[in-house]
Amino acid sequence: MNRPPRIALAALPTPVHRLPRVSEDLGLDLWIKRDDLTGLALGGNKARKLEYILADVLAQRADFVSTCGSIQSNFIRQLGAGCSMLGLGCAAAVMDMPFDAPAGKPRRGGLKEVGGNRLIDDLLGVDMRVFPDGPWETLYQHAESLASELEAEGKRVYRVPVGGSSALAAYAFLRAAEEVDDLGSFDWIVVASSSGGTQTGLTHAVQGTKTRVLGILADPEPGIAQDFAELGIRLDALVGSSLQLPPADFLVDASYVGDGYGIPSEQGNEAIRTLARREGILLDPIYSAKAFGGLCDLTKRGKISGKVLFWHTGGTPALFAMESPISP
Ligand SMILES: Cc1ncc(COP(=O)(O)O)c(C=O)c1O
Repeated sequence: MNRPPRIALAALPTPVHRLPRVSEDLGLDLWIKRDDLTGLALGGNKARKLEYILADVLAQRADFVSTCGSIQSNFIRQLGAGCSMLGLGCAAAVMDMPFDAPAGKPRRGGLKEVGGNRLIDDLLGVDMRVFPDGPWETLYQHAESLASELEAEGKRVYRVPVGGSSALAAYAFLRAAEEVDDLGSFDWIVVASSSGGTQTGLTHAVQGTKTRVLGILADPEPGIAQDFAELGIRLDALVGSSLQLPPADFLVDASYVGDGYGIPSEQGNEAIRTLARREGILLDPIYSAKAFGGLCDLTKRGKISGKVLFWHTGGTPALFAMESPISP
């Protein structure tokens, strides 16, 4: 297997431990992988991706990184921190609430445009270019114009896709799975999923075992499993594998998005309260809370059982940007 270069940015390996009280509540053997503790400006799954992406930036001799996302993007926060560590410039085209064009813009009521991740981006010196809300495709066009503008100023720009989900990102999670002893003893791995790097890497990692990876979606994007399969094929090309998993092998559940991407849901808020009060662990309202809420609901409905690993992807700074506080 080809092994792309990595630079150490994250606090790895992250802990894996059992959740005794929630296991008892749900009648599961429930474990957690603590990627909320990766470090790099308050943790989260993106730190792993950045170890390989920023190694590639250095290999390409770029001096500036451009990307795009929502104003409260966890990826941009961790990218900004990685760039600071390596002396690279960082710019991002952002919208408060980019949306999937066919689904349309959800009603307001998401996260604030200040505080949370945005506060940290400003501290890190990320050049945040804020655009009016629109479809993701429009945001991608703004990101390309931004990269061209930086190049016209003489910068050597490396373009990072939204959420960092390149083949290198999926590779980071293929390797992350090695941190879990006895990975194949789990019946399920449940993880929040959006741009797909995390789920794609983990799904590749469990091939040949009984373990199934279920992505609880943060975006109501139709055809997302097809995108993950295409990313998987790029991962195959990167590592020299012939796996070629079809879209049906990427198990996703879109039932827990609620009112839309970027908007906390009542079920997610309940999951935040549950994990905080029963285990002292914090979730974020946009990704991990919806995933954990989905895990609880699917267990109660008998769809998930046995030994389960909840892969906590972090994102907790968004808790401090919620427009409506979580009721006690
Ligand atoms: C906290 C958190 N969890 C999960 C995800 C989803 O990860 P991926 O984009 O690799 O699907 C993200 C991505 O934005 C995130 O910020």
